[in-house]
Amino acid sequence: MSNLKTPKFDTVKVGFETSDDSAVVELSNGKKIIQTVDFFTPIVDDPYDFGQIAASNSLSDIYAMGGRPLFALNIVGFPINELPKSILTNILQGGIDKAKEADIPIVGGHSVDDKEPKYGLVVTGEINGDKIWKNSEAKDGDVILLTKPLGTGIIASGIKKGLVPDKEIKIASNSMKTLNKHAADILENLNPSAVTDISGFGLLGHLKEVCENSQLTANIDYSKIQFLPSAKSLAKSGIIPGGTKRNFSYIKDSVSFHSELNQVNKYLISDAQTSGGLLISINEKEALEFTDNFHGECQIIGYMEPKKEKLIKVV
Ligand code: CO
Ligand code: CO
Repeated sequence: MSNLKTPKFDTVKVGFETSDDSAVVELSNGKKIIQTVDFFTPIVDDPYDFGQIAASNSLSDIYAMGGRPLFALNIVGFPINELPKSILTNILQGGIDKAKEADIPIVGGHSVDDKEPKYGLVVTGEINGDKIWKNSEAKDGDVILLTKPLGTGIIASGIKKGLVPDKEIKIASNSMKTLNKHAADILENLNPSAVTDISGFGLLGHLKEVCENSQLTANIDYSKIQFLPSAKSLAKSGIIPGGTKRNFSYIKDSVSFHSELNQVNKYLISDAQTSGGLLISINEKEALEFTDNFHGECQIIGYMEPKKEKLIKVV
């Protein structure tokens, strides 16, 4: 988007230049509102699960910046003459129930007739005080926390090919449905220096943005990274989505990989995620406080160090 001409507005506190998760705009009374939008095609077969996942994914960008969601609007594409309306009802109910868990109403939306179903939310929230968690302020010596296991892109491809057992679909689906609210609630009482959520660009893509914008190198311990069940075996058998391959080619020149890591390992940590966890750069003491309070699979996966030739080192 760098070739677009965008006029400057003093009210825009976070715009789209920095590839942060949401936009932040200041109101005339000094309060800051935060807004984001995301929608996509089904990644699981169950419409109710898909609705919950899409809503959780849309809300994530608000939590990733320290915002508190206030309300949302639906964005819907649906082949109204080809699929039973009950499918759409279930998708929307999934969204409503997830929004309820986030303690916000869905107050409207817009739908179009579309060959392939699509669903997501526009979410508006507010920022309390001056605390905006950007992706550009990580500090040398911080540790790096990741709050969900990786592998949803690979698993979604496996599901389309009928290769994932029901039990493992359920685990992946539950992970994607999980709001990043709990993680954000704990972080609110701490002082993270940079936060983002893992989505389409994968762990390495989002980490590269943090490193680039913070002028640091991340040192990542591959053995600390957790994966959803079946992600590794699917990747080994060649199930690598196009987006994950593109992510890898995009980041590969910025990363030095340990010589024992093979191409499957490299794809696994480049995997494009849907409704992924938070990636947090924070001092070690507070990171331990976070892991003590967090219910879920959360790991310290590495640390920040002064900028080296490569922005990311995976050992
Ligand atoms: Co994001
Ligand atoms: Co997004």
